[in-house]
Amino acid sequence: MVDIKKILKRMTVREKIGQLSQYNANLFLDTDAMVTGNMDMLVISGEDLKYVGHVLNFKSPAEMRQIQKEHLQNDRNKIPMLFMMDVIHGFRTIYPIPLALGCSFNPDLVTECSRMAAREAVKGGVQVTFTPMVDYVRDARWGRVMESTGEDAYLNSVMGEAQVRAFQGDDLSDKESIAVCVKHFAAYGGAEAGRDYNTVELSEHTLREHYLPAYKVCLDAGAEIIMPSFNTLNGVPATANSWLMKTVLKDEWGFDGIVISDFGAIKELIDHGVAQDGKAAARLAFDNNCNIEMCSAMYFSYLEELIGENVFSMAQLDEAVLKVLDLKKRLGMFDNPYRGADVTDIEITHENREVSRRAAEECAVLLKNNGVLPFKKSTKKLAVIGPFADNHNIIGFWSCNGKNEESVTVADGIKALLPDAEITVIEGCGDEWNDTDTSGFDEAVNAAKASEVVILCLGEPQDYSGEGNSRLELELHKIQLELAKAVIGVNRNTAVLTFSGRPMVLTELEKTAPAILHMWFPGTEGGMAVANLLFGFANPCGKLSMTFPRSTGQCPIYYNHTNIIKYGKPGAHKPYCASYIEHDNLPLYSFGHGLSYSDFAYEELALSKDAMTADESIEVSITVHNTSDIAGKETVMLYMCDMVASTARPVQQLIAFKKIYFEPSERKVIKFTVTEPMLRFWNNNNEYVSEPGEFRLWTGYADHLVLEKKFSLMIGSSDV
Ligand code: GLC
Repeated sequence: MVDIKKILKRMTVREKIGQLSQYNANLFLDTDAMVTGNMDMLVISGEDLKYVGHVLNFKSPAEMRQIQKEHLQNDRNKIPMLFMMDVIHGFRTIYPIPLALGCSFNPDLVTECSRMAAREAVKGGVQVTFTPMVDYVRDARWGRVMESTGEDAYLNSVMGEAQVRAFQGDDLSDKESIAVCVKHFAAYGGAEAGRDYNTVELSEHTLREHYLPAYKVCLDAGAEIIMPSFNTLNGVPATANSWLMKTVLKDEWGFDGIVISDFGAIKELIDHGVAQDGKAAARLAFDNNCNIEMCSAMYFSYLEELIGENVFSMAQLDEAVLKVLDLKKRLGMFDNPYRGADVTDIEITHENREVSRRAAEECAVLLKNNGVLPFKKSTKKLAVIGPFADNHNIIGFWSCNGKNEESVTVADGIKALLPDAEITVIEGCGDEWNDTDTSGFDEAVNAAKASEVVILCLGEPQDYSGEGNSRLELELHKIQLELAKAVIGVNRNTAVLTFSGRPMVLTELEKTAPAILHMWFPGTEGGMAVANLLFGFANPCGKLSMTFPRSTGQCPIYYNHTNIIKYGKPGAHKPYCASYIEHDNLPLYSFGHGLSYSDFAYEELALSKDAMTADESIEVSITVHNTSDIAGKETVMLYMCDMVASTARPVQQLIAFKKIYFEPSERKVIKFTVTEPMLRFWNNNNEYVSEPGEFRLWTGYADHLVLEKKFSLMIGSSDV
C-alpha cells in the first residue's frame, strides 16, 4: 500500500505546487479535444508542465494513457495524474440534459443514467467528473439552466444526491466509480438578468432558503470535490469569498475535501478587481481554501514566493497536497495509473442506448394535448416537418464525448417505428433566431395537406444554451411560428415537438398547436423516444422542473414566490396591482405541469390529525385514480404553505413527491409523513427553525393546487 506521507516528505515545493494545478490536455499532446475556457490566459513554463498533477478535456482513453505514461516517465515521485471531464449527462451515450432529468421526478432513473455514465467514463480514462451541477435557477435567459435540475431546492437536492451516490458508489476503488465535483459554489444561477458570469446579489436569507441547500446535500452525500463559481456573490468573487469558503463551507458545513477553481477563475480575480496582480490572486484563492488551480498559473507563479515570505506555511501547502494524494490513493491510481481506461475508444452499446431512450421518454413533458395524441399506430402517411425533423443536433450542450451523428433523429425514429408508412421529411425553415427564408414553406404545407398526421419539430439550436449562451428573447423564433401556423392551418392532426435547453415562451404556439410535447435535448436516443411517445408505445409522464414564462419580460419567474401583495387577479390590468400592463404575471406553464395519456383524478387528501408538536408527525394520504384505460406513471406531489411566520413564506413549496405507476382504472392511496424539520425555514436571524402556527397542504402541482387541508404546529423548533 502506497505511503503518501513518505512521498510528500521527498517532494520539492514545485512538485507540491504541481499537485495543486490542472491544465487542458492540449498542453500535453497534439489534440483537438475541447477547451472549456479561454486558454489565451494560460502561461506556463515547459519546466513546470512536468509537475502538473491533473488534466482535463482529453479526447480518448488513448490520449489519457499517452499523457499518463509520459508524465510517469518524467516524474521522479511517480505520482499519477488525475483525469477529469464534464460528464454532465452522459460520457459516450448521452441522456437528457439535467434540466430534463429534473422533469422525470425519478431519482432512480437519474441513478441508472449516472451509473451508466460512470462505467463509460472509467473506460474512457476519467477519474473525476465535474458533476453534479446543482445551481438553483429562476431565469431562463441564463444558458446554463440546462445543466441544473431546476427551480426547486428540494428537487435539486434529491437529484444531486442521486448523482453523487451513483457516480461515486460505495467505494472509490470500485472500478465502476469515479469521484464527483459538485458545482458551482455558489449561486451562479442567480446571475443578474440571466446573463452568464454576471453579478449575483442575494440576501443571506434567500441564499440559505433556495441557493445553498443542494450543495450541502451533495457534500453530505460524500462529494469529494467542490468548485467555486466564476461570479461575484454580494460583491466578492466566490473563489475569494471568505463567507462562502470559510464561514459556510468549512466552519458551518465542516467540508474538508478538495476545492478546485473553475477554469482560470483564480487569475480572473484580477479582472474582478479584487486582486492587484497574480500574486494577490494566488494569495486570496489559497487563503480561501482553493486547493487546485484550473487552467491558470498563479500558484505556479507565486505560491512558492508566498511561502518564502511566510504568508503561508509549508504545513498549509502540505495539507492541501496530502488531500490530493489521498484522493489519488483512494481511487487506486497508485496501484494502476490507467485505472479502467480502455486501449481503444469505447463504443455505444445497445443496452446503454436503451437506458438513454427510456430516460428521454420519462423526461419529455406533454404541455398540451387536445386529444390528437397518441397518433394511431396504423398511421400510413405522415409528414415530419421543421428544423428538428431530421436533425442530429439533439444531444445538448456539455455532451462530453458523445457524438451528434450517433443520435437517432426524429425522422429516424419514426421510420424505425413505422417501416411500412409513407413518411415525408421536410425541414421547412432554419433554426437560427433571425432566419427569414420562407422558401421551404410551400413544400411543407403541401406535404402536410397530403398527410394523415403531421409531426412539427421546432425549437432553439443546442448551442443556444449551455455556458456563455444567454438569450434576450425566449419566444419561439418568428419563422418557426409562421411555419407552424401555415402547417397547422392545413392539417389539424398536428403534434408539435419543441427542443430546447431552457424554458421557451410558447404562448403564440399554444394558441394554435393541437398538442405540444417538449423534448428538451433528449440525447442519443431522442428520435426513438419521440416515436414511442407520439404513437403511444410510451406514455408521457414528465413534469416541469422549471416554469415556462408567458413572455420573456416575466423573467425571473418561479413557482415558490411569496404572496405578491396587490397581486391582482388574472385579466385586465388594474391600477395599484402587481400584474403587468400587457398581461398578468401567471406563467404559461408552471413548475410541476405535465400531461399524460392517462387521466388521473385526485380524489382525496386526508391527514392523520390536524395538529402536531415538534416531536410528532402527521400522516398524509392522497387517493389518486387512473380513470383511463391507459397505464401510466404519475408524480404525486405534496405542497405546503406556512401561513404566518417571522418572514414571508412561499405561497407554495414542494415538500415531497412520489412517482407512482398505475394500471388502467387503478386507484391508489399514496402516503407521505410530514415531520417538523420539513416545516423549517431560515428566519431573519439566519436560524433554521420552524415556528408554531397554521400550515396548509395541497396536492396537484404548482399554481394548480387541489384538495387543501390545514394543520397546526403547536410548538416549533424555535420554541424548544
Ligand atoms: C467551465 C465551466 C465548469 C467546467 C469547467 C471545466 O468553464 O464553468 O462548469 O466544469 O470549465 O470544463
